[in-house]
Amino acid sequence: MNEPAASPTSPAPSPATSPVASQPSSPAPTGAPSPAAAASAAASAASPASDAGQPAKASGQAPILILAAHPDLAHSHVTRGLLSAVHGMPNVRVRDLYALYPDYAIDVHAEQEALRDAELLVWLHPMHWYSMPALMKLWVDEVLSVGFAYGREGHALHGKDLWLVMSTGGSAHSYGPDGYNRHAVDDFLLPYSQTAALCGMRFLPPLIVHGAQRATDADIRAHAQRFVDGLKELPQWCERQPEPAQEDVPTEDRPVSQEGVPV
Ligand SMILES: Cc1cc2nc3c(=O)[nH]c(=O)nc-3n(C[C@H](O)[C@H](O)[C@H](O)COP(=O)(O)O)c2cc1C
Repeated sequence: MNEPAASPTSPAPSPATSPVASQPSSPAPTGAPSPAAAASAAASAASPASDAGQPAKASGQAPILILAAHPDLAHSHVTRGLLSAVHGMPNVRVRDLYALYPDYAIDVHAEQEALRDAELLVWLHPMHWYSMPALMKLWVDEVLSVGFAYGREGHALHGKDLWLVMSTGGSAHSYGPDGYNRHAVDDFLLPYSQTAALCGMRFLPPLIVHGAQRATDADIRAHAQRFVDGLKELPQWCERQPEPAQEDVPTEDRPVSQEGVPV
């Protein structure tokens, strides 16, 4: 839908509170994988329930779960490049939602168990209609259920961190008051940050690349390096931050059980 911009890939302006998201765009690091050349690595990194390495806890590093949601990964440049870059990281587990659930029949129990193991949760997806792809939204609807993610007994995600890593077709300029999208990209992320707050998660400054369809291989390599750096640095950085509060949903706003009791 959005016309890709002629401007080069650039990170979204973010609060200078993250060691990663505040970094300026940098030249492509040597040795970073080429997204184009690493299609096969990306395919295996993105295979259903692929674990990009050992079980996270066994490695002694903070367990990271990447939920990737791209409906056409074979034709992706950015998302595929990022998945390729994390292939083999010992503490990183990747769940490719569209590969796992081509029929949209999400295994809620399996998803919730995967979440319990993670400390840092990453949502990796392209922006679709100012939001997330449809299967990612269904995942939110079904997996972040009352009694698990929110509500009286719903504390499973409390204290975890949520990092949104997203690409947009629109340029950085388009996401401003003078651009055709009319608003800063952060304005479109309010449902994300509030979802995190309701579940007691910290919503980290997102990592966003704009003008994705016109990004060069070098742009994508640089972006992938920022992603990898973030996965390495954010867990320690998050540990030093104060615990987030979990919003309490008033009883009258909670769903009721079959017995008519608020859950
Ligand atoms: C159905 C659909 C909706 C889209 N909606 C938006 C949008 O709202 N804003 C935007 O900037 N780009 C939008 N795009 C462009 C994608 O965000 C862009 O193609 C993607 O980030 C590129 O990443 P990839 O290389 O991983 O595919 C849309 C693309 C599709 C297919």
